[in-house]
Amino acid sequence: MSLYNRAEAALQINFKKAAGVGTPPRLEDAMHHAVFNGGARIRPQLCLAVATACGDDAPALTDAAAVALELMHCASLVHDDMPAFDNADLRRGKPTVHKLFGEPLALLTGDGLIVMAYQVLLQVGTTHPERLIALMRNLTEGVGIPNGIVAGQSWECETTADLARYQRSKTGALFVSATCAGAIASGQSPKPWTDLGAFLGEAYQVADDIRDVLGDVANLGKPVGQDAVHDRPSSAQAMGLDGAIRHFDDLIAKAGKSIPHCACREMLQQLVLSESERLVPKSMCASYRQHATSGARSKPIKRPQTSVTKVSATSKSVR
Ligand code: IPE
Ligand code: IPE
Ligand code: MG
Ligand code: MG
Repeated sequence: MSLYNRAEAALQINFKKAAGVGTPPRLEDAMHHAVFNGGARIRPQLCLAVATACGDDAPALTDAAAVALELMHCASLVHDDMPAFDNADLRRGKPTVHKLFGEPLALLTGDGLIVMAYQVLLQVGTTHPERLIALMRNLTEGVGIPNGIVAGQSWECETTADLARYQRSKTGALFVSATCAGAIASGQSPKPWTDLGAFLGEAYQVADDIRDVLGDVANLGKPVGQDAVHDRPSSAQAMGLDGAIRHFDDLIAKAGKSIPHCACREMLQQLVLSESERLVPKSMCASYRQHATSGARSKPIKRPQTSVTKVSATSKSVR
């Protein structure tokens, strides 16, 4: 079974089990929509891949860890899309949760998914209590404060922020949790796997910033040009597109090199390479460079009508 199919099947089974019977039906529909709407499932796939490399001696626990990561990610997207944050109408090519179900249920959907992530771990993890505690700690570090998603998203509410720290927290931290979770679920040390998660996570956010400028709604399934509209710090803004593309390539190379020597090294390297091409296709860069050298900008970068700068993109200082 492919990593993607294993992740998808585990999500279906664990979601149903955790939802149980009697959940308010509109809330369950909204939570279902938030999860089963076509995500790439990269975080659970990473967890499963590392677990495979580490022997995967407790596959049900590995599945639960992978599911918990994706549920947290989906929750973060629901909240990120809400009017209080990015006010996005589209996610994964479909209407966002607040567009379909309204803001109160979107808020509760995010809350419900965050709690469900721990529920799923608890339902399976009692067979391996030590691993369960380590998995919960690992997940908490990826999503909480001081360096997880909540912290990362909060940097947007500060007056200054360091770009690398902002990106590492809002995106990179959950990738580190993903690679580490695969090792922990298999009873192995997560340490050798932190660099892979960190490099890949940073590459992922840099790619997201590049695609926010060069991508299109039809391919991405979400609005583009949003970093400029909301005046958010972004790699494309801080380094220029060429600089951001070089930085992305460098991070991907480092991610590949960081994979520990093991029987699955080639499989993991392949996963990194295919993700790299999926995220920032060579054809997209070539067409941008062609436009750039012919003097035309590939795409206009929209600027906000009013100046609502909350975070300065390149500030070196973190308050
Ligand atoms: C989007 O994540 C948000 C970021 C943290 C960059 P993904 O690109 O993994 O989105 P899905 O899960 O495939 O929709
Ligand atoms: C979202 O970051 C990261 C989260 C933790 C939710 P963005 O706002 O840049 O991502 P997209 O472009 O909406 O997916
Ligand atoms: Mg955002
Ligand atoms: Mg967003």
